[in-house]
Amino acid sequence: MFTSTNPSDIKEVIATVPEASASEILTVLRTAKTAQKSWAKLPAPTRGRIIANVGRLVESNKEALAKLITKEMGKVYSEALGEVQEVVDTCDFFLGEGRRLYGQTVPSEMQNKNLFTFRMPVGNVFIITAGNFPTAVPSWYIVPALLAGNTVVWKPSEFTPAVANALTSIFHAGGVPKDVLMNVVADGVQTFAALESGLKEGVINKVGFTGSTAVGKKIGAKAGEYIQSACLELGGKNPMVVMEDANIDLALDGALFAGFGTAGQRCTSLGTLWIHESIYDAVLAKFAALVENAAVGDPFKDVLFGPMISQKYLDNHLDHLKMIQPHHKVLGSSATGRITAANPRKGFIGDPEKGVFAHPVIVAGIKKDDELYSTETFGPLVTVGKFSTLDEAIDLANGHGYGLSSAIYTKDPQNVWRFREGISAGMVSINNSTSGAEAHLPFGGNGLSGNGSRQSGIWVLDQFTRWQSMNWDWSNKLQKAQMDLIEIKHDPNFLLNI
Ligand code: UN1
Repeated sequence: MFTSTNPSDIKEVIATVPEASASEILTVLRTAKTAQKSWAKLPAPTRGRIIANVGRLVESNKEALAKLITKEMGKVYSEALGEVQEVVDTCDFFLGEGRRLYGQTVPSEMQNKNLFTFRMPVGNVFIITAGNFPTAVPSWYIVPALLAGNTVVWKPSEFTPAVANALTSIFHAGGVPKDVLMNVVADGVQTFAALESGLKEGVINKVGFTGSTAVGKKIGAKAGEYIQSACLELGGKNPMVVMEDANIDLALDGALFAGFGTAGQRCTSLGTLWIHESIYDAVLAKFAALVENAAVGDPFKDVLFGPMISQKYLDNHLDHLKMIQPHHKVLGSSATGRITAANPRKGFIGDPEKGVFAHPVIVAGIKKDDELYSTETFGPLVTVGKFSTLDEAIDLANGHGYGLSSAIYTKDPQNVWRFREGISAGMVSINNSTSGAEAHLPFGGNGLSGNGSRQSGIWVLDQFTRWQSMNWDWSNKLQKAQMDLIEIKHDPNFLLNI
């Protein structure tokens, strides 16, 4: 059994759910695989209408779902409402795709012959997601996968099973048959074993994974053994570059939200704030003051951030604090580590002893050789460093090998275009935070952040469909491509004589 608790009050049990073994997951995968053919036969516009129903139901259950998210994983309620809105937006985008899902008509090089393309569903999709976005990120997979005619088995985080059950029940209420979308909660070992047998047996035809780079590598490699490429949305160490000419207050608003929103537990969270050397001291002091004075605590109150998702995430954060070196300057709070009565945070809202709350931490003076330079910390920890030229900033922003999100604050278009061209991240923000991507632009990263797959918008359809090409020759004779060429009479030596 898995028991999820409220991270603001760990004594409060939110849900107790059965823990699936690898063979139980395999049974679920087989059931979904069997259901796929008839789901795919339903006209795409009809599947679009079902997605429309789901979107409306998520909208009418927005507050209830957001409350459950805040209770089970701890993000502040306003962010939870935003997350649920992201599910609605995703449904709204894809309900129309049911009436498009276009293929092409393509001219043939021969007469009396026509060429076409069709999008075909891949089959049954196995989705594994993290606890930090328990509805929005799963919906980025589930909604387009279902719309395109696939069935889905979803393995949510063991920290958010109540939210997963709530979201799944909304899909079912909207008209998705029970065997077309199923969720199973399991630990990593059982999930990986089921992944392997499911791939081997052919009941997994596509894998989607959002989580750490270390686990993503294993999943990607396993899928590769079975000639599949997984859709991977992995970690980030997202840079934010503040140029000399930037609007500093705007940049720091962005840094505060990106660094500490969701307690820093977004894949798009700010990694390092890179400040131009000429303004470094002043901007760092301002940032430190903002973080010191920010409200932390009860996620149902007006706070910058609430608890960590669970003790595991807190422990992970505490491990990262050990990477702080003597040459670093630690700022942002009255202490570091877990917030308790003995290790208090100024102005904390609520009772810190009840939950898994952490002090926000700024680690200034970061250098390229530091472990923290290239470690995704996934907690309320922001590193800060300085640069002298834009080229140096771009080099620092790319140097760790992650490439998910990035940001630059400047008023100079030259800086904008040079940054956009030089940055290796899949997503670039100009005068905006690294987190908070809109749900209809391609979402994804490069290098350690992903294998080039993109979610959201029309681009994700390439993850959940395969192109089928068809040629139809109605000439009633065998016409040979590349061989039966139509001769073109022309004069290759023609020059104007004027
Ligand atoms: C994630 O943390 O896995 O862009 C996704 C953002 C959100 C999604 C984050 N819309 O910050």
